Amino acid sequence: MTDLSQAALPDANGYFGPYGGQLVPPHLKQAMDDIAKAYDEIVTRQDFQDELAALFADYVGRPSPIFHAKRLSDQIGGAQIHLKREDLNHTGAHKINHCLGEALLAKFMNKTKVIAETGAGQHGVALATACALVGIPCEIHMGQVDIEKEHPNVTKMRILGCKLVPVTFGAATLKEAVDSAFEEYLKDPTNYLYAIGSVVGPHPFPKMVRDFQSIIGKEAREQFQQVHGQLPDQVVACVGGGSNAMGIFTAFLNDRGVRLVGVEPAGEGLDKPGRHAATLTQGKPGEIHGMACYVLNNAAGEPDAVHSIASGLDYPGVGPQHSYLKDVGRVDYDSVNDQECLDAFMTLSRVEGIIPALESAHAVAWAMREAKKLPQDTHILVNLSGRGDKDADYVAKVLGI
Ligand SMILES: Cc1ncc(COP(=O)(O)O)c(C=O)c1O
Repeated sequence: MTDLSQAALPDANGYFGPYGGQLVPPHLKQAMDDIAKAYDEIVTRQDFQDELAALFADYVGRPSPIFHAKRLSDQIGGAQIHLKREDLNHTGAHKINHCLGEALLAKFMNKTKVIAETGAGQHGVALATACALVGIPCEIHMGQVDIEKEHPNVTKMRILGCKLVPVTFGAATLKEAVDSAFEEYLKDPTNYLYAIGSVVGPHPFPKMVRDFQSIIGKEAREQFQQVHGQLPDQVVACVGGGSNAMGIFTAFLNDRGVRLVGVEPAGEGLDKPGRHAATLTQGKPGEIHGMACYVLNNAAGEPDAVHSIASGLDYPGVGPQHSYLKDVGRVDYDSVNDQECLDAFMTLSRVEGIIPALESAHAVAWAMREAKKLPQDTHILVNLSGRGDKDADYVAKVLGI
């Protein structure tokens, strides 16, 4: 059986099977190799591991708990739904896990500026926070559409002292924010660090971001075993670029009895090209943003327009490791549409008193759909990747609450 563990993948060149790599021009390849070398060095240092562990505990508030959503499970009448509470982290989502790592790496490499894109604003807020803590200037590129939708996070980024760059070209959402941030990074790759916000981009980012996020699954595996004396039957997470999903899946990849499910945004329907972002469900192998992975392309072979009610899932590519895990059949990828997401957002809020991020509500919606079909002694663990404060005004407006 293929070893899918963290140590086994990617290979030395950053490949997960045929996916990943460094599909960048030669001068950028050097910059990526420098980052890979610095990362390999820093992770073996005990002082770095101690500093990160202390920040996870005292700054982020880790370990995040697992909550048994009993009232929700009872209401559905099937499997038990459990929530890994990444929404309780400082800054409200899983993104802080890799942002702290990336900010410490930037300091170690003496970088003068950290640049990134953001969709829902969670990566932007988390990176601005980590840069404030470490004392490095931070610049966040964000689509104008998302700036208007995710206003609370925009205000927070400004308060935290980062430079916010509105991106107005194209669809003015996540893909354009990545293009814009990359352009700024190209001005001085030696002194800048592009702190990518998910398990995407050229090597070493898919590996590095996964490694920083793998704390989620490490904790969850131990916590679940301690309380229930077994592993969960299914582990579910939403997939935009794929960082929260890789974060929780990594610890379970070699536990073949645990079903792993990644939930993509079906937006307004999988039958409407340009109105969903279900890359693994509907896309094909291709290239985007310096990596080989599944991509949603249009007829001209360009990345297609994408849509999701959740800004953080609105991306026409996906992490190379997810692309590989789909092909080898270790992870099932399914989708949830905007309406199902909204229903789950409201149900979790009203039945459990937990307002989820719209991104995370995709995973909750899938678990609610699946739980109905399963006996009561089965356990579904959902990665609740973030909280919905950023989405509250938007949802209230859409639903007329
Ligand atoms: C709360 C939350 N969950 C999930 C995502 C999607 O990203 P990823 O697939 O990398 O976890 C985002 C992105 O902004 C997010 O804010």
